[in-house]
Amino acid sequence: MKSLYDLPAPAKLNLFLHVTGRRADGYHLLQSVFVLIDWCDTISLDARFDGVIRRDDVGHVGEPLPADDLCTRAARALQQAAGSHQGATIHLNKRIPSQAGMGGGSSDAATVLLGLNRLWNLNLPLSKLEQVGLQLGADVPFFLRGRNAWVSGVGEEITPVDVPQQRIIVLKPEKGLATPAIFQHPALKRDTPHATIAVFAEKSGHERFLFGTNDLQPVAELLEPQVAQAITLLRNQRFEARMTGSGSAVFALLADDAAPNLPDLPSGWQQKTCCTLVEHPLVGWTT
Ligand code: C5P
Repeated sequence: MKSLYDLPAPAKLNLFLHVTGRRADGYHLLQSVFVLIDWCDTISLDARFDGVIRRDDVGHVGEPLPADDLCTRAARALQQAAGSHQGATIHLNKRIPSQAGMGGGSSDAATVLLGLNRLWNLNLPLSKLEQVGLQLGADVPFFLRGRNAWVSGVGEEITPVDVPQQRIIVLKPEKGLATPAIFQHPALKRDTPHATIAVFAEKSGHERFLFGTNDLQPVAELLEPQVAQAITLLRNQRFEARMTGSGSAVFALLADDAAPNLPDLPSGWQQKTCCTLVEHPLVGWTT
């Protein structure tokens, strides 16, 4: 039986996230810079001859994963798009927090698409995987491309940008946030003027990390007070903190030698010192 072992699925952070409008179908037009970090899930894939797609949770601790999670849906969507009758058992080692704004589910889906495309010898081009991925979630195409990027539209317009390598502290409160609740909230600011890549690119090195704002953050703080609490914890240590995506995780830049000294965190909170990645470890798996 053919297998692929320990494929990485890295998390992302949104350096900023602007909401510039709303489409007729309710989806929001965004501008953001997405950066990959070294907080990763890993996925192993075993080919099956019976056509069945199954996710195996052996070894998983914490909240049970939903039966029909994005990994499973990604595998089914690929089977359908390629007209394939091959199956797979997906072993997911989940480390990226859920409901964090770190893209864990979308990254898992992208890694499943890249992995099964190879395991099943489908040889679908990246453009086809992106089409399949976009139907699974707005962030999936970014992970498939695998480079830090300026992302606009609803997530499908992706332009690579350079972001300096940087140490970052990520703080995930116990409570998570559901993306739809943030986007549907009446208090969400939806008319931020368009920024340009040129203005972003003019910024030198670390100034790129301080560009813009996260327009979702005020609504997230309204819905979940732990977001503001996390921001305050970092600001009290003199870190410039910001939320990623639709939260609830927040992050701050660390100087090269800085060792954050956060007080004892409330139970269920997670903190991790991460590094930005130059590119996704699976970049080039399909072209
Ligand atoms: O694509 P994803 O699953 O991340 O989106 C979850 C929900 O967030 C969507 O169903 C939609 O309500 C909202 N959303 C949006 N505009 C976007 C992305 C997501 O309104 N660009």
